[in-house]
Amino acid sequence: MNIVLLGAPGAGKGTQASLIAEQYQIPHISTGDIFRKNIKEQTPIGVVAKSYIDKGDLVPDDVTVEIVKNRLEEDDCKNGFILDGFPRNVYQAEALLKIAELDVVLDVDVPLEDLMARLTGRRVCSGCGESYHVSTLGGRNTCAKCGENLYQRADDNEQTVSERLEVYRENTQPLIDYYKSKKLLKSVNGAQDKEKVFDEVRSVLDNL
Ligand code: AP5
Ligand code: MG
Repeated sequence: MNIVLLGAPGAGKGTQASLIAEQYQIPHISTGDIFRKNIKEQTPIGVVAKSYIDKGDLVPDDVTVEIVKNRLEEDDCKNGFILDGFPRNVYQAEALLKIAELDVVLDVDVPLEDLMARLTGRRVCSGCGESYHVSTLGGRNTCAKCGENLYQRADDNEQTVSERLEVYRENTQPLIDYYKSKKLLKSVNGAQDKEKVFDEVRSVLDNL
């Protein structure tokens, strides 16, 4: 199954992708995670990506498309993949058309006004990448899955989140109509418990 997860910053793409990957045994490919790994390792891609990500802007298309193309050529993608955070504009969507055939584009739909609180309260595991929200951690600062420390993403501050939401409105939201016209779009209500969101996701995927 070749899946694209569409959704605004903080809609729960990463959360749902990780559940899908576990249930359907296909790799979860997040361009944001790939960039953050490169930033941590101070690679040339990381240096370029950081200057954009810190501001909440998109990393240039040529860099991003090349990364995805190379990743999708790896062996573990032969039986399917979940793309989380790619494509993010029409140019990337057109490039993806030439790289892979999609089975479904899942839009995780959450009112944009809910997202500031989700993102500024997010904490991420430095070991396995699992996402949490401070409101459910009860002061704990370690991961329930692997025990490693949690941290706050550098782009989860109020100013950068505002810019990310604006970039989403301008560049990524138009992909909803783009994929509707290609009859690939399915929407799930992302403004409910993550387990309920996943029930909807599963029902879409099991009926493909
Ligand atoms: P990226 O890492 O993709 O960030 P994003 O799109 O802004 O999305 P997030 O990862 O912040 O949110 P999410 O939807 O994964 O939500 P999550 O599950 O964590 O990209 C970062 C940057 O990299 C971009 O700004 C850009 O600069 C660059 N980049 C990446 N891809 C690019 C591309 N293709 N082209 C160019 N540049 C690119 O959940 C969020 C929070 O909500 C968590 O705290 C979670 O616990 C909580 N939560 C999750 N589900 C629920 C629920 N159902 N109810 C309540 N809370 C929930
Ligand atoms: Mg994410």
